[in-house]
Amino acid sequence: MATPRHFLTLTDFSTSELEALIARAIEMKAERRAGVDQRKYPGYVLGMIFEKASTRTRVSFEAGMAQLGGHAMFLSPDSTQLGRGEPVEDTARVISSMVDIVMIRTFGHDIVERFAAVSTVPVINALSDGYHPCQLLADMQTFVEHRGSIAGKTVAWVGDGNNMAQSYMNAAGQFDFELRLACPEGYEPAAELLEAHSERVHLVRDPREAVTGADLVATDVWASMGQEEEERARRVAFTGYCVDAELMSHANSGALYMHCLPAHRGEEISAELMDAPDSVIWDEAENRLHAQKALMEALLEA
Ligand code: CP
Ligand code: NVA
Repeated sequence: MATPRHFLTLTDFSTSELEALIARAIEMKAERRAGVDQRKYPGYVLGMIFEKASTRTRVSFEAGMAQLGGHAMFLSPDSTQLGRGEPVEDTARVISSMVDIVMIRTFGHDIVERFAAVSTVPVINALSDGYHPCQLLADMQTFVEHRGSIAGKTVAWVGDGNNMAQSYMNAAGQFDFELRLACPEGYEPAAELLEAHSERVHLVRDPREAVTGADLVATDVWASMGQEEEERARRVAFTGYCVDAELMSHANSGALYMHCLPAHRGEEISAELMDAPDSVIWDEAENRLHAQKALMEALLEA
C-alpha cells in the first residue's frame, strides 16, 4: 500500500500546493453559496479524534465531510479505548483500517506524529500543543479574500508563543511574509523554530513595535487548552498584550486583525474590535469549513 499523504504542519505542503489549496477553498466557498452539489465522496468516512474541546473544528470537519457526501464519526477519549490507555499506534492501525481519512486534536504533537506514522490513510492535525495548521489555512484564505496575496507583507503576532504562533512561523516561510512576534518573556515559541525561521521571523517584546507597519495582526488566548491552572499567572504576564483600537492605530492603514477563537473580550482582544462591523474574524471562522474541504479533497486525491 502506498504511504498516505498527511497534513501535520504547513510544511507538509509546498508553497504552490498551499496556494492551490486556498484557491480551491475560495472556489468551494463560491460553489456552496451558489448551491452547487459537492457530494463527490459518497460512502467515505472521516474519523474525528478529539482529546480536547472544540466548536469550530468539529463543526467544520463534520459539516464539511457531510457536504462532500461522506460521513464523519466523532470519537472522544471517554467513549473510546484511547481514554483507557490503548496505545496510539494500536488505535491508529485499527481506525485507519476502517475509515478513509482521520483528523486528530490532541496534546503533544508527538501523538499526532505517532498516529500518522502507523496510519494507512491521510491524517490531519486538527490542533496539537505544537501546531494548528488548519487554522492557518483559514487565516491565509481570509487574508487573500480581503487583501490579496500575503507574500511580502508584514504580520504581527501579539501574545503567547503557542501552537498558533508556531503555525504562523511556518506560514511565514511557506507564504513568504515577515512575522514579528511580541511575546512576554518566558512565553516565546520553541527556540529551535525561532532559529530555523530567523530570516523571516523576529521576536520583540513590545506589542507596539511588532504592530507598527503590520498588514495583519493576529492573537489568541493567553492560556491554551491544557494550561487552565496557569490562567491566573498568565493574566499577569500578558498585561499590556491586548489587541485593541489603540494598538491597531500603529498598524498600516487597512490592516486586518484575526483571532482563531474562542476569544476573551477584554483580555487578548478588545470587545470593540471583536464586535466591529468590519471585523473579518467571522469570515476567518467560516473559512475553516471551506479550507478543510479543500484540504480533505487534496489528501483524498493524493
Ligand atoms: N479555532 C478553533 O480551532 O476553534 P475550536 O477550538 O472551537 O475548534
Ligand atoms: N491556542 C489555543 C487555540 C484554540 C483554538 C489552544 O490551544 O487552546
